[in-house]
Amino acid sequence: GIDIATLRAKTGCITLDPGYGNTGACKSAITFIDGEKGILQYRGYDIAELAQKSTFIETAYLLIYGELPTPAELQGFSDLLTENQMLHQDMLQHFDAFPPKAHPMSILSAMIHASSAYPSMKTYRKSLKEAFPIHAARLISQTRTIATCSYRKAAGLPPSYPKRDLKFTENFLHMMFSLPGEDYDLNPEVVRALDLIFLLHADHEQNCSTSTVRMVASSQANVFASASAGVCALWGPLHGGANQAVLEMLEQIHRDGDDGSQFLDQVKNKVGNRRLMGFGHRVYKSFDPRAVIIKEQCDKVLQQLNVSDPLLDIAKKLEEVALNDDYFISRKLYPNVDFYSGIIMRAIGIPMNMFTVLFAIGRMPGWVANYKEVMDDPESRISRPRQIYTGETLRSYKPITERA
Ligand code: ACO
Repeated sequence: GIDIATLRAKTGCITLDPGYGNTGACKSAITFIDGEKGILQYRGYDIAELAQKSTFIETAYLLIYGELPTPAELQGFSDLLTENQMLHQDMLQHFDAFPPKAHPMSILSAMIHASSAYPSMKTYRKSLKEAFPIHAARLISQTRTIATCSYRKAAGLPPSYPKRDLKFTENFLHMMFSLPGEDYDLNPEVVRALDLIFLLHADHEQNCSTSTVRMVASSQANVFASASAGVCALWGPLHGGANQAVLEMLEQIHRDGDDGSQFLDQVKNKVGNRRLMGFGHRVYKSFDPRAVIIKEQCDKVLQQLNVSDPLLDIAKKLEEVALNDDYFISRKLYPNVDFYSGIIMRAIGIPMNMFTVLFAIGRMPGWVANYKEVMDDPESRISRPRQIYTGETLRSYKPITERA
């Protein structure tokens, strides 16, 4: 009958759980995962059904507001995204301050953060809560705008402005690839594949970046600061950076003339602590349902674009061997969502350093939904983990002249 806070106060007892393997940090009604059974649901809808029937934008609405939108709600949400898709003119100057080789993830986190310094007139004088729908729309829409502007700057191209008559993912492709005076030719299969990538990445409960967003939000920081922290957490190769790392790994294997078997031997023998990137997951211990959908889409897109990619052959071979190898079986390591997504993006012409940026575009609705959940929770407390101190016990200060 004693609660944990009272127990801690009475005993000084602290639970240590490195990497939060078994510690729930919050209650959430957004996403459900059963890692043993390979189940992923957004607001109670199975990911496979959403992947087949929904779109990224409809799913974004579902994640943030809890229900699938009516036609009027979807129209209102889309209109808000369109109204908020342009960056403040002064923000364009920021791009010039980055060196030409700046990683687009560093540009994205900085620009999202900077965005809070340019409040729109519509949210001026509104409380954070009242302004939330506009801020949410701005974040989802402008992440796409920032991403495409940073790509174009690195490519020496002027920014390409979104078109009002194009849908979200169509506009992304248009803003990335249209050349001055020459519109990008939209292929419906490519649009569908990219929309699916965004949708499959849209949320994934308490992963590293989403927990980071919630932790920052718990201090009542604004949604731009919280989301920008999410981008930083996502960048690491063990998290969102894995999609870039997978392609780098496949390219290296290809360059070495290996069919993947030598590389797998090195992984198993932990040579240089190598990992099979795109494999393994903290929660999924049977399969990642997103990986199954992505693999199918990968085959479709490459066929449609008439692309034959030796890296896809290597990836399939790695998967086949690993799934029958005791090292991977005993550790319950299976392909995750990033194993095949990079091959699709490469076929579409997205450069490798933009892969994690695309993940961030997809994940933004999930971050925004989690931010809202923290803000709407009357019982929300500031996140403040404890630690087990392992340093020195009390000692006296030595003047510098007495130190050896
Ligand atoms: N390749 C080879 N061995 C692996 C891999 C891998 N990809 N992943 C885990 N292992 C091994 C570890 O070496 C360890 O072996 P040991 O028991 O002999 O020491 C064991 O499996 C357990 O590994 P942990 O690091 O404890 O697993 P954790 O749950 O902490 O890590 C993670 C999960 C980070 C996803 C890990 O599997 C990994 O590094 N994968 C590769 C990177 C990747 O694809 N990340 C994307 C994740 S999905 C996403 O963010 C969208």
